[in-house]
Amino acid sequence: MSKLHKYEDQNGNFDYDKYVEIQTWGNKSKLDFCWVAEQNIRFLAEYIQSQLGEVAKGVCHGTRQGFEQKWFSESLGIEVIGTEISDTASQFPNTIQWDFHEPHPDLIKLDFVYSNSFDHSYDPEKSFTSWVNSLRIGGLLFIEHSKLHEEPGATQLDPFGASAEEIIDLARQWCGSGISQGELLDMPAGNRFVRHLKAIVFQRLD
Ligand SMILES: C[S@@+](CC[C@H](N)C(=O)[O-])C[C@H]1O[C@@H](n2cnc3c(N)ncnc32)[C@H](O)[C@@H]1O
Repeated sequence: MSKLHKYEDQNGNFDYDKYVEIQTWGNKSKLDFCWVAEQNIRFLAEYIQSQLGEVAKGVCHGTRQGFEQKWFSESLGIEVIGTEISDTASQFPNTIQWDFHEPHPDLIKLDFVYSNSFDHSYDPEKSFTSWVNSLRIGGLLFIEHSKLHEEPGATQLDPFGASAEEIIDLARQWCGSGISQGELLDMPAGNRFVRHLKAIVFQRLD
């Protein structure tokens, strides 16, 4: 069963300021830490080229120090922008301070979207549909996933926990025939916390 932590004020209403405060605290307390593995981003860049050929625009969501956009950019020879909710965003190249749940007027008609921060969504349907809508028809969405992103891993800081299969089921409920079935790719590298990482890949169909 998937799990979604709630951010509520004393009256039980959604407390957005609390969400931003907790995410910003988490970002600052791990500012020197990098989760993403370079080998995996280079692998996904090759996958993108094999599926789409030359591409022009990509975005990564929840990027902290911005390594994923740097490695996509180097591999694909294009500019890749990252979003980051924390006010530390301005310290890192090609990173804008932005809540990834919200559609950004300039980040549209994208060839691809990548995130290893989907578990930081307070509303996974809102972030997922926003990311799909930011793609061009045929564009690819990659959600990095591991055992640590499942239900027991859901906390105040990582509010959404779900298995890859649950995410695929939910995605179909949210987007119906507008996206492909959802494919699981085994990534070549782990990191110091988890040996096996996967990417869940969806293609925007209409
Ligand atoms: C698990 S860390 C991953 C950081 C980086 N991608 C890495 O591999 O090291 C999640 C990041 O997402 C950011 N974040 C959380 N919620 C966000 C949101 N709604 N919009 C944009 N960034 C968010 C956090 O501040 C944090 O830096």
